[in-house]
Amino acid sequence: MRLILCGFGVVGQSLAKLLESRSEDLYARFGLKPRIVGVFDTKGSAVESAGLDLSKLINVKKKYGTIKKYSSSKNNLSGVDLIKSLDADVLVETTASNYKDAEPGMTHITEAMKHGLHVISVNKGPLALAFPSLMELAIYNQVLLRFSGTVGGGTPILDYAKNSLLGERIVSFEGILNGTTNYILTNMTNGMSFKDALNDAKQKGYVEADESLDLDGLDAAAKLVILANWVMELKVTMPDIKRTGIRNVSADDIKNAAKKNCAVKLIASCNKELIVSPREISLDDPLCVNGTLNAISFTSEHSGTQTIIGRGAGGIETASSIIRDLLDIRQEISKI
Ligand SMILES: NC(=O)c1ccc[n+]([C@@H]2O[C@H](COP(=O)([O-])OP(=O)(O)OC[C@H]3O[C@@H](n4cnc5c(N)ncnc54)[C@H](OP(=O)(O)O)[C@@H]3O)[C@@H](O)[C@H]2O)c1
Repeated sequence: MRLILCGFGVVGQSLAKLLESRSEDLYARFGLKPRIVGVFDTKGSAVESAGLDLSKLINVKKKYGTIKKYSSSKNNLSGVDLIKSLDADVLVETTASNYKDAEPGMTHITEAMKHGLHVISVNKGPLALAFPSLMELAIYNQVLLRFSGTVGGGTPILDYAKNSLLGERIVSFEGILNGTTNYILTNMTNGMSFKDALNDAKQKGYVEADESLDLDGLDAAAKLVILANWVMELKVTMPDIKRTGIRNVSADDIKNAAKKNCAVKLIASCNKELIVSPREISLDDPLCVNGTLNAISFTSEHSGTQTIIGRGAGGIETASSIIRDLLDIRQEISKI
């Protein structure tokens, strides 16, 4: 399978490393031989129709801060030019999530679908702002759109709800979908002030460059949109979410919760309404996980409530979700 990779940051580089380290295993177990034929970052591109040398690509990025220096020719093509000109099967979108206009990911994804490429996105922006229309565009162009890594990183939350609970009717779900705010609230439960907890999370590299994405619940809301569309088949986007972040959670709120054997968590829930808001959760509830962990409880009509817990982010975990999506696409197209 020939891939075009948009963005070569934490996730893009992790994918390159994973494809290289797992190439024999992927071929032996699944007959899958992915080749990255084009990649671009903010400064330029690298193209090789036979497949780029992934070690060289990583070294070039490390040395020069861009993959533009991979070779001396054809390195100034824009992302859209690459999508239009290269023969490829799948576009992997890993540029930064943006909830204002979803660019540049939106253009990459729509152009790719119009050119008949299947799409894997770990970028939440386009899905959060336009999930229903992107799904329609995929159907119209007879391509597949996959996005396992957008919710739960490597933890297969979307696959669990869609496939493992196949045939069940999920009636509601709620979860902790943002590891950074969970880390901050856990620190506050352990006695830190909001300011110190935030600084600690920043020092550990957990906070997005735009801290509002975490603190104001935008990241959790984007994941809620994706879940609501994919799992509950609701046609919703970001403005449909009632959203409150964690900036106003006080030490008193934390203490009051503790008196009731509870902890304050940023909960994203889908039950009649779509809400992201801090809430008290019983310490006995399986959802009440600490640190950067994510957790989600699905309640279905006949199977009761089940909770999945796992690491919600991380470059290699998210890269692993891309491989899962690739295998899924390969399996789906082999049925045609
Ligand atoms: N990191 C995680 O654990 C994780 C988990 C789940 C989902 N995600 C999502 O995955 C995506 C990537 O995350 P990341 O951590 O890899 O981010 P990152 O390290 O900031 O990498 C983003 C990449 O996108 C490139 N880029 C940004 N704007 C571009 C543009 N206009 N044209 C071309 N390239 C552009 C950047 O280029 P430069 O290198 O030139 O700056 C960079 O290579 C985000 O949407 C994030 O929300 C991340």
